[in-house]
Amino acid sequence: MSDLAGKTGLIVGIANKRSIAWAIARAASAAGARLAVTYQGERLEENVRELAGDLSNPLILPCDVADDRQIAALFEGIDKEFGGLDFLVHGVAFARPHELSAPFVETSREGFALALDISAFSLIALSRAALPLMERRGGGSILTLTYLGSERVFQNYNVMGVAKAALEASVRYLAADLGPKGIRVNAISAGPIKTLAAAGISGFSSILQHYRDRAPLRRTVDAAEVADAAVFLLGPSGRAVTAEVLMVDGGYHATGM
Ligand SMILES: NC(=O)c1ccc[n+]([C@@H]2O[C@H](COP(=O)([O-])OP(=O)(O)OC[C@H]3O[C@@H](n4cnc5c(N)ncnc54)[C@H](O)[C@@H]3O)[C@@H](O)[C@H]2O)c1
Repeated sequence: MSDLAGKTGLIVGIANKRSIAWAIARAASAAGARLAVTYQGERLEENVRELAGDLSNPLILPCDVADDRQIAALFEGIDKEFGGLDFLVHGVAFARPHELSAPFVETSREGFALALDISAFSLIALSRAALPLMERRGGGSILTLTYLGSERVFQNYNVMGVAKAALEASVRYLAADLGPKGIRVNAISAGPIKTLAAAGISGFSSILQHYRDRAPLRRTVDAAEVADAAVFLLGPSGRAVTAEVLMVDGGYHATGM
C-alpha cells in the first residue's frame, strides 16, 4: 500500500506496542507517510523512542494534551520540520480509577471534568492547532478513536461513555466547521482490544468474551485491523467520507438479542 506516499501525519496516543495509535503509526508508515509521534511525559518517552525506531525518519515530541503550551510547542516543531500537516490521529483517553469502578452516580465533578478534558476536548484543541498547517496543504484528515459505550451502557465504562458521546458529537461539529477547508473529521469505533487503557476497566475480559460469543464475526478485532480502516479514512480512498463514526467491531454493534 502506498496510499499515504508523500504525506505527513501526527499520531498522538502511543504508550506502548499494544497501543492502537502505534498500530496506526505502523500502517501509516507502511503506506508511505512520514510521521510525528508524541509521548505523554518522561515516563513514556523511552517506550515511544524505542518503538519509533521502526519508522522512517520520525519526529518525536512530547505532548500532554492537558497543557496548551505543550500543544503549541508540538505544532511549532511540526511546522518547522514538515512545513504543514496532512493528517492527525487522536488516540487519547483517560479517566480516574474511581470513575471506572464506582457506581456511575458517584462520578465526581473533578473526575467528570478531567475525563471530558483529556478524552474529548483534546480533539478540539489538537484540531485547532492543526488547522493552519492543514490549510497550507489544501486540506487534511483528522481521525479519533471511540467506543460503543457512547451509545450503550457497558459495565464500569461509566464517565468514559459520556466522554465518548461528547467526542463523537465533536467529530460532527468539527467536520461541519472544517469541511469547507477540505479537512475531513472521522472516528473509528473499535471493538474491545487489550491495551493499557482497557486494563483500567474492571471486567474487561468478560466484555472480550461477550464479543467472541455474540459479534457476527464471532471474534474480537485486533489493532492492525483498526489500523487498516484508519489508513482508508486518512488517505485518498476515504476522500468523500467525513463526520462519520466507522464501526470496526466485527459487527457487534448491530446485535440485539
Ligand atoms: N482498547 C480498546 O478496547 C478500545 C476500544 C475502542 C476505543 N479505544 C480508544 O482508543 C484510544 C487509544 O487507547 P488504547 O486502547 O490504544 O490504549 P493506550 O493506553 O495504549 O492509549 C491511550 C493513550 O492516551 C494517552 N494519554 C492519556 N492521557 C493523556 C494526556 N493527558 N496527554 C497525552 N496523552 C494522554 C496515553 O499516553 C496513551 O498513549 C482511546 O481513545 C481509547 O478510548 C480503545
